[in-house]
Amino acid sequence: MKNTDSIWHVTGRSVYVDDIPEVRGTLYGAIFSSPVAHGRIRKLQTFAAKKLKGVKAVLTARDIPGENQIGEVIKDEPLFADKWVHYCGQPIALVVAESDAIARLAITLIHIDLEELPAITDAREACQKGLLLCKPGVFSMGDTEMTWRQCTHIFEGRADCGGQEHLYIETQGSYAIPLENGGIKIHASTQGPTHVQKIAASVLNIPMHRVEVDVARLGGGFGGKEDQATAYACMAALASKLLHCPVKVILHRMDDMKMTGKRHPYSADFKIGLSEDMRILAYEATFYQNGGAAADLSPAILDRSLFHATNCYYIPNSKVTAYSCKTNLPPNTAFRGFGGPQAMFIMESAIAMAARELEVPARRIQQKNFLSEGDTFQYGQIARKVHIKKSYQIAGQEFGMEKMDREIKKYNKTHPYSKKGLAVMPICFGISFTTKAMNQARALVHIYRDGSVGISTGAVEMGQGVNTKILQTAAQSLSISPRQIKLETTNTTRVSNTSPTAASSGADLNGKATQLACNKLAGRLKKVAANLMEVAIGDISIRDEFVWIKEKKTGLSWQELVNQAFLQRVCLSEQGHYITPHIHFDKTTAKGHPFAYHVYGTSVWEVTVDCLRGTYTIDKVCIVHDFGNSMNSSIDLGQLEGAVVQGMGWMTMEELAYGQDGKLLSNSLSTYKVPDIYSVPAELKCIALEAKGPKEAVLRSKAVGEPPLMYGIGAFFALQDAIAAFNNAYTFRFDAPMTPEKALLGLYSK
Ligand code: MTE
Ligand code: HPA
Ligand code: MOS
Repeated sequence: MKNTDSIWHVTGRSVYVDDIPEVRGTLYGAIFSSPVAHGRIRKLQTFAAKKLKGVKAVLTARDIPGENQIGEVIKDEPLFADKWVHYCGQPIALVVAESDAIARLAITLIHIDLEELPAITDAREACQKGLLLCKPGVFSMGDTEMTWRQCTHIFEGRADCGGQEHLYIETQGSYAIPLENGGIKIHASTQGPTHVQKIAASVLNIPMHRVEVDVARLGGGFGGKEDQATAYACMAALASKLLHCPVKVILHRMDDMKMTGKRHPYSADFKIGLSEDMRILAYEATFYQNGGAAADLSPAILDRSLFHATNCYYIPNSKVTAYSCKTNLPPNTAFRGFGGPQAMFIMESAIAMAARELEVPARRIQQKNFLSEGDTFQYGQIARKVHIKKSYQIAGQEFGMEKMDREIKKYNKTHPYSKKGLAVMPICFGISFTTKAMNQARALVHIYRDGSVGISTGAVEMGQGVNTKILQTAAQSLSISPRQIKLETTNTTRVSNTSPTAASSGADLNGKATQLACNKLAGRLKKVAANLMEVAIGDISIRDEFVWIKEKKTGLSWQELVNQAFLQRVCLSEQGHYITPHIHFDKTTAKGHPFAYHVYGTSVWEVTVDCLRGTYTIDKVCIVHDFGNSMNSSIDLGQLEGAVVQGMGWMTMEELAYGQDGKLLSNSLSTYKVPDIYSVPAELKCIALEAKGPKEAVLRSKAVGEPPLMYGIGAFFALQDAIAAFNNAYTFRFDAPMTPEKALLGLYSK
């Protein structure tokens, strides 16, 4: 089945926040933000801005009727800075005017008197000064201290990886419309409608039931709208409430890039110990997460880094410590992988270093240490249905890994100024929110009298195809055509207390809730059919929109059955509530069973580096991926391809540059390079691993949103391999992204 939204996207008819037809009297908000990364506000002069024709108000912290606070986990983030500013781009005031242009002009008339203070942008420096956003986390297993002396080889090193701009095509934005009775409706581009509802209610000092948040779809979120859509929704709501007018706040691209948090840069120290035969006996690492100026989701992201610190390897003795460091950058936030990619890059760096020193291919170490059935993860969960070895084997066979390697060596012998490199990147990613309470979802299903079905859930469609997947699930449960079913917008009045659509679990959680509701409805309808047909209910089934008695199709259609049920006053609406079973995690011991299941796979990368210029091409990516029983192979393949390219971008060309003063220099698409059609691997092959999916996955179709991003890490190591083929004196530096500039320096380093 095709993604139901595609046709609307490609014909430009999908409605995003800024496309919603405007209500008469709509006003426009523009944000005045901090020009410095750290400072004390002495005086804010808004007089001239207020006087400008067309300006309706300039709102600051003082205008907030409720709490000036948008932090959910830790209350450390004001909606508007009041006395202090902690990052460049931090909102201070909102100008509300008759047009976006007037609002933006008024911004230039605001004057701020600031005492500038020194800014810290480096995570390690922040850590040294004791500036942490939350308590450090430690995961350990076995005893590393006792093990070092048993290791034949020990290597220590450092790894760094940069942040990443989400670059959703639709920038952050919201449109708030006042309702009667002091209520407010917010159309928001958010992954977390309930989060917006909760925080907006607290900012406005009204109960949550007065705030209705509606989300039709996002033009991409990638984690960037899990938490960070909230501020702009609150601003629109605040202005709307105070001025009794509809108000829109939509960020321009450069403001979005400047103001919003990104993927967390990490810096790490590692130590790895191996036996004679390449077994990793011990691994220690310390992560310094650059959290930015407020906690946002950093503590949860730090947790996931710890969960994925040893990737798909069984390491009997490990100890990983992680610090979330407070710096004067915009608060960094969720980004596809949620701290997993950084941790896995660090693990692979340690393996790459060992391999380089021991003069063996990294894949020999990788392969030797893959998880086996029944092994224990660092966090106590027993690994079940482990497909890592199988995916590696199939990749080796089907893609001819050894032959690829031989041909690359041959190519390198005959090409003095062009070198190829190879790398294998295996992955293991846990599926579930690592915060247990978030693993719940609800669905509301209505069957209308004509037999058509409307479904509301907590899932937010952001391009990942969750609506199509839920629709397919419902069609299967009810045994009706997908054409009979419509997915409604995500609305807090229809489905309450939702988790954000994140952690790759949107389809699992909301699909399962939908199944529960549909199964209840189907049961009720079968009872009606049994009565009508005067047969036992066990003999009734519904198949392809008809009632069947045992193996015989009857003349009773779905539509007529629904109508009969209605006439008999049978309820045709139902709710489903799903919770992920069996998961638990004890934070004090850092042990438990946090994930419903894991996703595995292996990727093989081939690249070519131009050794005169440092430029490169990604020639080939071959992947064996564990989709379980994919319910929609075109959506799943699309997710895999998108994630691989996004991961590759993070590891190769996407480089965030901040000045010493904490100002983002790469604040537009002319200075921040993302993969385009020319940088996509010339060849991207994917084989679906044949393995039955787990029952915790909806229709046994495994979550796919985030895991393949981490294949992208292979691009970095393949490039490094090619550089080493040219320059034997090259010392491996684990400093991602591997931009062409860094590649060039590597090619000629001594
Ligand atoms: N795909 C598209 N096209 N756009 C997105 O914003 N977000 C990713 C992934 N795939 C995203 C995407 C992220 S970060 C997550 S967590 C999942 O989709 C969320 O959706 P799911 O839980 O339904 O997989
Ligand atoms: N993933 C994404 N978002 C989250 C998570 C997670 O594991 N935990 C809390 N928010
Ligand atoms: Mo995805 S980073 O969990 O929104």
